[in-house]
Amino acid sequence: MSETDLKSPKRYPVSVAPMMDWTDRHFRYFLRSISKHTFLYTEMVHTGAILRGDRHRFLRFHPEEFPLSLQLGGDDAVSLAECSKIGEDYGYSEINLNVGCPSDRVREGNFGACLMQTPEKVAELTAAMNSAVSVPVTVKCRIGIPGKDRPEDLYRFIECVRQAGVRRFTIHARIAILGGLSPAQNREIPPLRYEDVESIKRSFPDLLIEVNGGIKTIPEMRERLKTTDGVMIGRAAYETPYLFSKVDSIFFGEKDSPKSRREILDRMEEYVETRIVQSGTGKPHHALRAVLGLFHGEPGGKRFRRILTERMYSDYSANLLREAANELSASVLDAIPSSEENALPSFV
Ligand SMILES: Cc1cc2nc3c(=O)[nH]c(=O)nc-3n(C[C@H](O)[C@H](O)[C@H](O)COP(=O)(O)O)c2cc1C
Repeated sequence: MSETDLKSPKRYPVSVAPMMDWTDRHFRYFLRSISKHTFLYTEMVHTGAILRGDRHRFLRFHPEEFPLSLQLGGDDAVSLAECSKIGEDYGYSEINLNVGCPSDRVREGNFGACLMQTPEKVAELTAAMNSAVSVPVTVKCRIGIPGKDRPEDLYRFIECVRQAGVRRFTIHARIAILGGLSPAQNREIPPLRYEDVESIKRSFPDLLIEVNGGIKTIPEMRERLKTTDGVMIGRAAYETPYLFSKVDSIFFGEKDSPKSRREILDRMEEYVETRIVQSGTGKPHHALRAVLGLFHGEPGGKRFRRILTERMYSDYSANLLREAANELSASVLDAIPSSEENALPSFV
């Protein structure tokens, strides 16, 4: 493949990780109300679900969710190419291949993290995906798996897949232990090795290298961005979503003020009513659960969460969010985070 065939992915200093059962279209719409620029991902969708399942259920999104990447899981080049094309036709900004999921079910299907064993296979898969679409194809992987967890193994993996035309890698800075650990344990027990990701960035200055794993605060994002091109945030995005209200001004140079939490609640109230209740597609709690962490750490935040949890399943009414918000003071509801002074000039 010649250099001119390559599609360059954009650099996004901050993204929210693909998370099964979490980063569904409702959560993404909610997150987009908080940050206009953070790059978003779908949950991982297996090729079989697209080719043989209710495709629309997995692929539809609201136009406001852009920019948005579709994450695919699979181990068959023809299916991945076909699904990439379908994703492109749906309008996704990019197609991402999951090479990091350690779950037993995924391993039995021979995809996810176990593909790190066979860089040539990942190169074959991504080359097929790349030739099917004109949007960038990117990869999310781990720093390794047992037996293939030395920095030179990761170097070899990146070098091999890069030759298939992949120009952005998001690397979860932990190895994945296949068998014996649950996915949740695999996000906690293997130690974080940011230095392995940094070394890849130094070895491949022309690639976009993003780091993922354990990043929870703005200062931690700043720190990791000193040595890599982007940070991907997983659990902190649903535990403390309002963290992202500062991301646009600090890392994307946005001049407009972020929305207050009251404005976000109003938007979500309208979304639930029009997009779910009136359209008859889904249940209010599918979208309302995205909002649970909005007041994390604020006085009244726990009570807000409890009211929502108690009522969103069986006692929903159009003004539920407003009623739950009565637990919070106007100063919390209407506060607008100030844009931080020490924005990193290179990201502005
Ligand atoms: C509930 C949950 C579901 C996840 N699902 C996916 C997934 O579908 N695809 C993927 O690549 N990673 C998935 N992950 C892993 C995250 O993308 C991320 O790599 C991991 O949580 C580490 O980042 P963090 O420490 O910021 O949470 C999932 C994580 C969680 C917590």
